[in-house]
Amino acid sequence: MQPKKFGVIGHPIGHSLSKVMHTRVFKEMNLPHTYEAFDVAPENLEQFIKQTDLAGINVTIPHKVEVMKLMDALDQSAKDIQAVNTVKFDETKTGYNTDGIGFLESLKEEGISLANKNILVIGAGGASRAILTSLKNSEARIFLANRTRQKALDLNEQLNLNATVISFDQSTFEKYLPTISIIVNTTSLGMHPHEDASPIPKESLKPNHIIFDVIYNPLKTKLIKDAESIGCKTISGVNMLVHQGAQSLRIWLGIEPPIQAMKEEVLKNLSN
Ligand code: ATR
Repeated sequence: MQPKKFGVIGHPIGHSLSKVMHTRVFKEMNLPHTYEAFDVAPENLEQFIKQTDLAGINVTIPHKVEVMKLMDALDQSAKDIQAVNTVKFDETKTGYNTDGIGFLESLKEEGISLANKNILVIGAGGASRAILTSLKNSEARIFLANRTRQKALDLNEQLNLNATVISFDQSTFEKYLPTISIIVNTTSLGMHPHEDASPIPKESLKPNHIIFDVIYNPLKTKLIKDAESIGCKTISGVNMLVHQGAQSLRIWLGIEPPIQAMKEEVLKNLSN
């Protein structure tokens, strides 16, 4: 088999979980392909995309939006989310976004159905946009809260979500949370170096809430720890990271990657 080269581009790029995760897949499946991390400054993005000999890349901060202009074609996922996290290079350069599928697959893996559930998404940035887009065709009823309320209202309108936009404050959470099944944190509250923060006060959580935090650093955010301590089912950002990566591999190579090995590799590197 002809070896193919893959990679992730970002700035800064640092220690890349994508690199170890994808390299593990190639090893596990006995594939000759390689995956490297590339630090690409914004002023070098265009040249990199035009000249690269890679067969596919993942795209991370700060290039997810800018890279769209450099594509020959955009998959519907990238059009909806208005950002690209995966590029496939063949005769053309095609941009995809696998974050939404990564979210849905994470729920599916845990056997969680969205049908007739009330789901609260907290935050209105890039991660929220991807998740909300993936929820559009589900049968869930969407509730949306963001510190800057106007951004939540704008997102609801732009994506045509028909969501209920609620205020980001404790009394509003107290009022709505008893009706909510799944709570998704897409904000940076709780992320290193703000480990003590959480978007939801512990007192507002109930044992039957399912908590999904997109943060994976730390692995257990305050929200996840609070939720676990009262017996909630929790899902961490590791699952979404693994599933968005798995979807990139399906796009590039048409393979079905080993999810458990990917998760194991990410967890090993996070605990280092
Ligand atoms: P990402 O691409 O990871 O989603 P982002 O686009 O920068 O990141 O979005 C960050 C989200 O976290 C936003 O919803 C932001 O709220 P605002 O729209 O009000 O800025 C939210 N966020 C960040 N810090 C926060 C804080 N201290 N309290 C509440 N929300 C916060």
